[in-house]
Amino acid sequence: MNSYSIIGVHLPDTGTTDLFVQDGRLVAQAPLGAQRIDAEGLIALPGLVDPHTHLREPGGETSETIATGTAAAAHGGYTAVLAMPNTNPAIDTPAKADALLRRAVLTGARAQVVPIGAVTADRDGQHLADLAGMADFGVRVFSDDGTCVADPSVMRAALHEVARFDGVIAEHAQDPWLAGPDACCSEDLMAARLGVAPWPAVAESVIVARDVQLAQEAGARLHICHVSTPESVEILRWAKARGVRVTAEVTPHHLLLDAQWLAGGDTTFKVNPPLRPPADLDVLRDALAQGIIDMVGTDHAPHCAADKAGDLASALPGVTGLEQALAVVMDTMLGTGRGTWSDVARWMSYAPAALAHLSGQGRPLTPGEPATLVLVDPTRRAVVDRRVTASASQNNPYDGFELPDPVVLTMRAGMITYRR
Ligand code: DOR
Ligand code: ZN
Repeated sequence: MNSYSIIGVHLPDTGTTDLFVQDGRLVAQAPLGAQRIDAEGLIALPGLVDPHTHLREPGGETSETIATGTAAAAHGGYTAVLAMPNTNPAIDTPAKADALLRRAVLTGARAQVVPIGAVTADRDGQHLADLAGMADFGVRVFSDDGTCVADPSVMRAALHEVARFDGVIAEHAQDPWLAGPDACCSEDLMAARLGVAPWPAVAESVIVARDVQLAQEAGARLHICHVSTPESVEILRWAKARGVRVTAEVTPHHLLLDAQWLAGGDTTFKVNPPLRPPADLDVLRDALAQGIIDMVGTDHAPHCAADKAGDLASALPGVTGLEQALAVVMDTMLGTGRGTWSDVARWMSYAPAALAHLSGQGRPLTPGEPATLVLVDPTRRAVVDRRVTASASQNNPYDGFELPDPVVLTMRAGMITYRR
């Protein structure tokens, strides 16, 4: 295994230093024969961890595979992704989680793949999946993402179940009676003009309000996926103040893009939950800065061209996100004075690693720890071209945007998984 000396790198909490890598770990002294990596002007962060990735395998391989999705992850500075179970079939048993992990090894995944288990069998919303069995296998996070666990009695039972083994339910908060499967636009006027069904903000926040109370009753951990509304933020603030064990994520696209992007009818910008009014973006950014929202989750949702080809009503919701997530966080949070590089490490590595109790990810860059890191150039910028991607899909909402282009090198346990 190669050893490395990363010379003159800046660590957010420590200052400028050298990092030495041997046998997959950080060591205190330069190993003999180490390859030199000149890192002057670069920042080292712990490898990024995405709490919300759609890898599409099995069943959706024309849109993404474990190989292509984790390659996109490595390009974006990620060393681990939590894989959402809304595949075909859904990951709803220990055997299916095991098969996913085997497939990741077999296909040379370039980031650690952490299976999320479905909450209900086949994501039917009615019958609890074998949560304890999946927990015995090591699964800690459960989600029916793509759909909400709409029935409160099912959600209540799921929370009581995961409380037994300190698991967590990651909720896609969307009341299906207030925002059905065809809902795709946050603003009523624009929805009417585009001839599509509205997706009102309250369809999210009523579920958040319900779930924080159910989580408190069960003493269970709850995670709210892709928070998109100020009302949800207010409820999270209230719940955290009362000691509810709730965490939340915000996506890069909800930090940067507002609903106006949908006005032209471009299905690329159809995403679930939808892009929100411009004023909401500042609320989400402030909530992340204040810790009301704990982390960034990409909701990387690759869709092949055919799945985005129809009109707004029929196109599938979702945007890719892994490759530009750090860039968007830099512009929306650091560029607006809302945080530091230490905060970025927390939002994009420490907090999501803690969500899933990952070992070997989201660790400080000190001797003895795994050499799992990303080297970042804070100055470089470039225009995004959706065709230049490691993903199998091109539904990239940042196509044509001038954004930071920070990722220089990604390393997982001493192996370089991406190098510019
Ligand atoms: O936009 C989305 N796409 N939101 C989700 O919740 C699911 C995801 C997908 O699987 O495509
Ligand atoms: Zn979702």
